[in-house]
Amino acid sequence: MFQKDLLKGKTIFITGGGTGLGRSMGKRFLELGANLVIASRKLDVLENTARELISETGGDVLPIALDVRNYKEVENALGRCVDTFGQVDVLLNNAAGNFVSPTEALSHKAFDVITDIVLKGSYNTTLAFGKHWIQKQQIARVLNIVTTYASTGSGFVVPSAIAKSGVQTLTRSLAVEWAKYGITMNAIAPGPFPTEGAWNRLLPPGLEEKFIERIPLNRVGDHIELANLAVFLVSDQSQYINGETVTIDGGEWLKGAGEFNFLDVLSPGEWKEMERQVRQANKN
Ligand code: HXC
Ligand code: NAP
Repeated sequence: MFQKDLLKGKTIFITGGGTGLGRSMGKRFLELGANLVIASRKLDVLENTARELISETGGDVLPIALDVRNYKEVENALGRCVDTFGQVDVLLNNAAGNFVSPTEALSHKAFDVITDIVLKGSYNTTLAFGKHWIQKQQIARVLNIVTTYASTGSGFVVPSAIAKSGVQTLTRSLAVEWAKYGITMNAIAPGPFPTEGAWNRLLPPGLEEKFIERIPLNRVGDHIELANLAVFLVSDQSQYINGETVTIDGGEWLKGAGEFNFLDVLSPGEWKEMERQVRQANKN
């Protein structure tokens, strides 16, 4: 589906690119010819991932230690990226922190740690990269990884929900304001995609089945499915898509939203009985 050189000449900067979905998207970008920067707090993890990705794809990967909560560090990381690759074409805001908890059990610090990584981290990078692109008069793209509950809200992950919702609003707002500079931006809202980071913090033991039952396609996502969507949204083929959030969740959130979707528990016999009841009611 994708030409081998689809992303040739593009430099893509992924926050949190050393693990999980960031790593999988990065690998796909490299396979399609991009240069890659992966930036997060743990340099040892990043260096290890960079070595693996270079040997798996033959591409160019620059690992940079970065805490997205610190604006100065973001500016420095951007500078290093430009020094190495000459320019940066795509910012992928993927770094996040999250855990499940009853909200009343959270301290204010627990709230801060999540919202600072997700919301402040995303506006720090977007602002620094945006100023750079505007000053250079360079066409560029931003892709933000949010969640399906950025739109619906969700209990037990409230700091993440409000922060992701803010990132979605950032996407929609700047898609309009910065289009005149040639900067476009979109978001992806993934459903469940197994990663160590998410699974260890979000899935209480024994509840994986419950997660899968909620998904009409009856399975979790495969990383390559998300990676291919990300490729499309950072490629020149999707330039007219701007301010959009693309959901990739096997239909999960809609299943929860549709009032009668729970009726898939009815057996054929129960459906026959229901039909009889309705037809009887129609006669009265
Ligand atoms: C209540 C908790 C807690 C818990 C931590 N805290 N865990 N409170 N319940 N389970 C509190 C701490 O007590 C502390 O508050 C405050 O949070 C911050 O603690 P720190 O020591 O600064 O951080 P730490 O607890 O070490 O780590 C938190 C973190 C870490 C930085 C967010 O988990 C992290 O590095 N995460 C990155 C990776 C990640 O989260 N990936 C998942 C993304 S998945 P006090 O007041 O006690 O000091 C995702 C999408 C999900 O986002 C959608 C799935 C379908
Ligand atoms: P992950 O592997 O834990 O990825 C999170 C990354 O964020 C890590 O690489 C981490 O690296 C980085 N990070 C955390 N705090 C940071 C900070 N302050 N500065 C810079 N980097 C930081 O989890 P994942 O599942 O792949 O999640 C990736 C993205 O997908 C997140 O935005 C998440 O919300 C989203 N998402 C995931 C799922 C899912 O099912 N997996 C579903 C919906 C949305 P360091 O520890 O090295 O900093």
